[in-house]
Amino acid sequence: LDEGYQKTHKNFDELLPTLPTRKGWWMHQLFQYQGFWLSAFGIRGIMLVHDHFKPRPTDIIVATSPKCGTTWLKALVFSIINRDSYDFSDHPLSKASHQDLMILLELHIHGSGSTSLVDGLASPRVISTHIPYSLFPERMTEGSSPCRFVYLCRDPKDVLVSKWHFSNKVRPEELPPLTLDEAFESFCQGVSHEGPFWDHVLGYWKASLESPEKVLFFKYEDVKKQPWGCVRKVAEFLGVPFSEEEENKGVVGEIVKLCSFEKMSSLDVNKRDTRNRERPVSNSDFFRKGEVRDWVNHLSPQMAEKLDQITEQKLQGTGLSF
Ligand code: A3P
Repeated sequence: LDEGYQKTHKNFDELLPTLPTRKGWWMHQLFQYQGFWLSAFGIRGIMLVHDHFKPRPTDIIVATSPKCGTTWLKALVFSIINRDSYDFSDHPLSKASHQDLMILLELHIHGSGSTSLVDGLASPRVISTHIPYSLFPERMTEGSSPCRFVYLCRDPKDVLVSKWHFSNKVRPEELPPLTLDEAFESFCQGVSHEGPFWDHVLGYWKASLESPEKVLFFKYEDVKKQPWGCVRKVAEFLGVPFSEEEENKGVVGEIVKLCSFEKMSSLDVNKRDTRNRERPVSNSDFFRKGEVRDWVNHLSPQMAEKLDQITEQKLQGTGLSF
């Protein structure tokens, strides 16, 4: 690694022990860095992105707070961008792991210690991330920067429930299960991966209002209601709108079907336990119910009310609501 990388790694090693820490939801401790609760690998990845990532005008960043539908959005963007390259009856999304089809920027860069692998990807690069908007370097977020972001968020009550289930799936066996009360308290305090949840959402929401040509913002609930409209919006935003011929051939519907929860969760590659030492999270862990309002089956009315109050307070005056 050259001197520049060594410097970033050294800065990270010196910084980490000075940061406030809290217990993580699964295997990682969380550290508070620039207003967000992150895993150590996340912070190292973010610092490397900040110092070394070279954005290209064609880059498409698929951004989410965890459990907002990352897997779904990745599949939609991948199939929209690559729709001329594959036949829907024999599509890579039906065979390959979604974890392989699109890298998670901070995890990937943390893993290799440098941006070399990301630098080697062919354009247009479609890259997924959980990095909060304010933690990207200015050369990616300022007005003149050419890279684009597609963001998906979700009702925090469903995010909490999804995250709680996910945590218990991926927690090491030696740890007792995370109780819903513990998860609820931490979530309300903002202490969850890439939390506070509301700050993550607001960073992208405000950017989408200021620079609509740069950040496209969706809610999970809206994509569920009108997947066709959302697919068309993404394609237009990315500069590859559907032609009349494609519309007539039903390409939008093919994409919606290919990326649906029913289709994706029934694939062999997503049903199998694919866990290994390098990748402790199985493909199957990313699929549970894929429904809106499953929180009613888990949260007490008091919990829901408290979360709604926090959401209202945090989003007041922003024009955003759930
Ligand atoms: P639930 O736990 O509520 O079922 P992420 O991909 O950000 O980790 O989010 C996972 C959540 O998205 C889970 O929610 C999962 O079931 C749901 N999900 C995964 N694939 C989906 C798809 N193709 N369509 C809709 N929801 C999907």
